[in-house]
Amino acid sequence: MAEVVEHYNASAPTYSEQYDPDKILTSADYPANFFRLKKIKQRITELGLTSVYELGIGDGSPIAAMAELGLRVGGSDFSEGMLEVARAQFRAKGFDPSVLTWGDIQDRETLQEAIASGPYDAVMALGVLPHVRDEGQVIDNMAAFIPSGGTMFLQFRNSMLSLYSFNRLTMEFITGELLAGQPESIRTVVEAELRPRLAMDLPPKRTGTQQAPGYDEILAKFHNPFELESLVRSRGFTDVRFHWYNYHVAPPMLAASIGSDFRTAGIACEGSDDWRGMFLCSAGVIEATKS
Ligand SMILES: C[S@@+](CC[C@H](N)C(=O)[O-])C[C@H]1O[C@@H](n2cnc3c(N)ncnc32)[C@H](O)[C@@H]1O
Repeated sequence: MAEVVEHYNASAPTYSEQYDPDKILTSADYPANFFRLKKIKQRITELGLTSVYELGIGDGSPIAAMAELGLRVGGSDFSEGMLEVARAQFRAKGFDPSVLTWGDIQDRETLQEAIASGPYDAVMALGVLPHVRDEGQVIDNMAAFIPSGGTMFLQFRNSMLSLYSFNRLTMEFITGELLAGQPESIRTVVEAELRPRLAMDLPPKRTGTQQAPGYDEILAKFHNPFELESLVRSRGFTDVRFHWYNYHVAPPMLAASIGSDFRTAGIACEGSDDWRGMFLCSAGVIEATKS
């Protein structure tokens, strides 16, 4: 996982920009994480939760926002670069930076001390699941932070958007997942028919620098929401619900020709949790209760 750490160490200094409310319409990238955090804050408030632990805290913006809501907080990350930025943010806001420690979400041993600082009402991992090898083990490690009745927020990259992107990812999803197990003779015909209709050169690959790899050069998986829900349930969670964010009101390849309306129409959908989110959103958060 060294390349994941390198990637996040390199992005740590500028990571906070995506949470800047003044840059929602102007930031280079769509402010997806801003809306994700808004939804989680809303749910935490609605549920009346008083403490939360975050694994993979990044620059510390989400967990600092929870501390600002008055919650007791704790958090960890395996990127020293991110931890440094997160602790600085905590110090600047008058919170105790010692509650932010080094830990690997995939390695229970590195989390034991943090688990002992609990239990917490909620546990969350936002932007972390794409980078892990064993999702079941990660869910078990998260569950150790909360008691029965506690809440988990687990973010994932949504593979269903590929059915609306009409690009290389559509082909990969249809031939690799939807038609998995079907005869090769059928998959070959489907692939030959689809290939000229899809933008197979898209999406462009996000590459890095000589110093650090880009997002598409590290392990950055998509997850199927149906499969992920089953996994979460099989690990002892109930009351599973989805929160969708990062709306694409048109296939992403049309963003440039649509112009600024693409972003404003997407923003107008954020927070709705409409069923369309499963197909229009590039990411979601599973909320679930520990049995
Ligand atoms: C996309 S960022 C999200 C940061 C933050 N949760 C947020 O929502 O802004 C992912 C973070 O997860 C961390 N991460 C990735 N894999 C991890 C692992 N195995 N253990 C702990 N942290 C991890 C990265 O270092 C990075 O800081």
